[in-house]
Amino acid sequence: MIAALCARLRQLGQPAMAGHLEALPPPHQATLAARLAALDLEHLPALVEPACSAPAPPPDAAGLEPPVAVPAAGGPDAARARALGADLLARGQVAAFVVAGGQGTRLGHDGPKGEFPATPLTERSLFAHFAAQLRASRARTGVAAPWYVMTSPDNDARTRAFFKENNHFGLDPADVFLFEQGELPTLDAAGRLLLADADRPATHPNGHGGALMALRDSGALDDLVRRGVRHLSYFQVDNPATRVLDPLFIGLHALPGVSSGEMAAKVVVKTDPAERVGVFGCRAGRLGVVEYSDLPADLARRRRADGGLAFSAANVAVHLLSVDFLARVTEDAEHLPLHRAVKVATVWDAARGLVDLPGAIKLERFVFDALGWAEAPLLLEVDRVEAFAPIKNADGVDSPATSRALLVERAARWLEAAGVAVPRRPDGAPDCTVEILPETAQDAGELAAAPGLPTAIARGARVVI
Ligand code: UD1
Repeated sequence: MIAALCARLRQLGQPAMAGHLEALPPPHQATLAARLAALDLEHLPALVEPACSAPAPPPDAAGLEPPVAVPAAGGPDAARARALGADLLARGQVAAFVVAGGQGTRLGHDGPKGEFPATPLTERSLFAHFAAQLRASRARTGVAAPWYVMTSPDNDARTRAFFKENNHFGLDPADVFLFEQGELPTLDAAGRLLLADADRPATHPNGHGGALMALRDSGALDDLVRRGVRHLSYFQVDNPATRVLDPLFIGLHALPGVSSGEMAAKVVVKTDPAERVGVFGCRAGRLGVVEYSDLPADLARRRRADGGLAFSAANVAVHLLSVDFLARVTEDAEHLPLHRAVKVATVWDAARGLVDLPGAIKLERFVFDALGWAEAPLLLEVDRVEAFAPIKNADGVDSPATSRALLVERAARWLEAAGVAVPRRPDGAPDCTVEILPETAQDAGELAAAPGLPTAIARGARVVI
């Protein structure tokens, strides 16, 4: 078996790995052989080609068109859409899906990001905060939406333990489905497999685009079909401003004539050319996202006649996908392209042990590439304060502090819209800390209808509503 595997590795252009495997003592040899076999070596040539080819040239303006988004309030179809969204939720036809496989390296948090305390006063973890939204939706509709949670091999055990320790945050464990995303081998610049240890190939999570195949491979797609779910509400674990089940967005996505109901995305208006968000663009009539690292500076700075940025539809990574579309797009993993990132990887070599290797190639798939497969995908423009408070970095922009400030500003706006006086500083920021629990309200309309609101918030007060 070892001899056959070494021969196959040589055929696949991996003589160094074959030589290393042959030279290993038996117990380690068997371990490495099993781990290599699990990597699906037959797909290796399909990885080596994108890993070693020259990086794709940055997009130019030719043929890249800014897309058209439905305005924040939902346009003339808003009332019908909201009713349809509420109806789909009440029929149990919508599920929630969070991707939580990332490492949180930039945040410097040692563990799954979903454990991170995110809300301004109650300091609920991201997972607890999203679960509270699901409980609130269940209380309103009478129906529990199932929740699919994608982890990665690095954080799966700890995420499962966190859910267990917290009694699944008051959700029925039968409605919470955790599964791991896949991994891909990390390669060097010549397309050679690398080692993370003497008996372990170096691997990395295959990107959030891997989420779609992982839904199929884990049995989650079958579970969705069995439950009669028709639409999946996708979001990232790092944005506590996400409305996990948004009736307006769901309804617009599912409304014939407005969208095909295959895949939709929320966008916010990008105003700073340097902001690290992907932007939507259409090429040959197909919608996609150009990542911030790929958008040339002249395109990032280009302005329209009215002064706004030409490419201003920023990706907040909130999507709806129909279950039928999900089944179609996951018929073949190759439907989503591989993106190549050149990074430092910690690798093992026989002479030096563990060393940092600059220039290692990590390939990832991105979920938004599925938009290119969808008919007439819907883009809904939403107010940034309503929808986007990402936690990416330990300090500065997109940090826990900026995220909390945005959640407080959103709470202040909802209170003011409900007729509650909120003290503000000369710079306009709320001069108090308010947190509105999802159990009380998930939007301004729900808050206005909530009983027992105060008439005013005192200056400097810290209030949970
Ligand atoms: C991402 C988007 C960007 C968008 C921004 C909004 C990409 C390539 N870009 O950028 O267009 O404007 O979010 O916040 O995604 N994750 C996994 N598995 C993986 C990789 C990531 O589950 O293998 C999850 C992470 O847990 C996180 C999310 O995907 O929830 C985003 O990942 P991250 O790499 O932080 O994306 P950004 O570079 O911030």
